[in-house]
Amino acid sequence: MVNIEKVIAIDGPSGSGKSTIARSLAKKLNLLYVDTGAMYRALGLVGSKRGLDLQNEEEMEQFISKVELVYEGQTGSLVLIDGENLTHEIRQHHVSELASKISKDPHVRNYLLEIQRKLAQDRIIVMEGRDIGTVVFPKAFCKIFLTAGPEIRAKRRFDELKAKGEKDISLQKILQDVIERDHRDQTRALAPLKPAEDAIILDTSEMNLEQVLDDLKDIVEEASEKKTVELC
Ligand code: DC
Repeated sequence: MVNIEKVIAIDGPSGSGKSTIARSLAKKLNLLYVDTGAMYRALGLVGSKRGLDLQNEEEMEQFISKVELVYEGQTGSLVLIDGENLTHEIRQHHVSELASKISKDPHVRNYLLEIQRKLAQDRIIVMEGRDIGTVVFPKAFCKIFLTAGPEIRAKRRFDELKAKGEKDISLQKILQDVIERDHRDQTRALAPLKPAEDAIILDTSEMNLEQVLDDLKDIVEEASEKKTVELC
């Protein structure tokens, strides 16, 4: 019987610093970084490009039965669908909404659940998302839930998009999108966004990335000693 899963689960809403933190942590520990949001984004984007109704369960079931998603986890090649590298395209602001919409679908969630669990079969991983500590790896040896106020998260997202050269965005619109998406993610029936009971909650509102990373390293080291998980 498996009592623990060798996964560092990092959950939280967008803009909590999750992705940057999880990526840096994985790099530091030389572990595979798994961005599950990228998987939802890729399916939402491709589904939308193929003209599908992302809220129609039958259409989604059909789509999922034929599509092939490969998670490579490399910097320039994170996620591919039917051979197409979507790593950069999925970062556009409008894709967030497509991902959030498609993430309600049970066929989509089950399909990705299987892919996500397989990634941890023969190695220790750092996986980030919304339901990693609650649903995907409920026995993860280390669970962290990152959060921050909506205004702060919207500002971080706004700065990130501006830096990437995205035009026609306003802070007000991003804040509105953040609030709507939080609500959708937290209230959906399947695997809603919430901290696992045994997760350590870290509010990053007043912290910079270095501070979060330092705290996280301590949390991970403590958990690995307690649960006797050898990280390297
Ligand atoms: O982390 P992100 O912003 O890239 O995620 C995009 C959307 O995907 C998010 O609104 C909800 C969904 N998602 C999910 O439902 N479960 C996950 N484990 C990861 C993302």
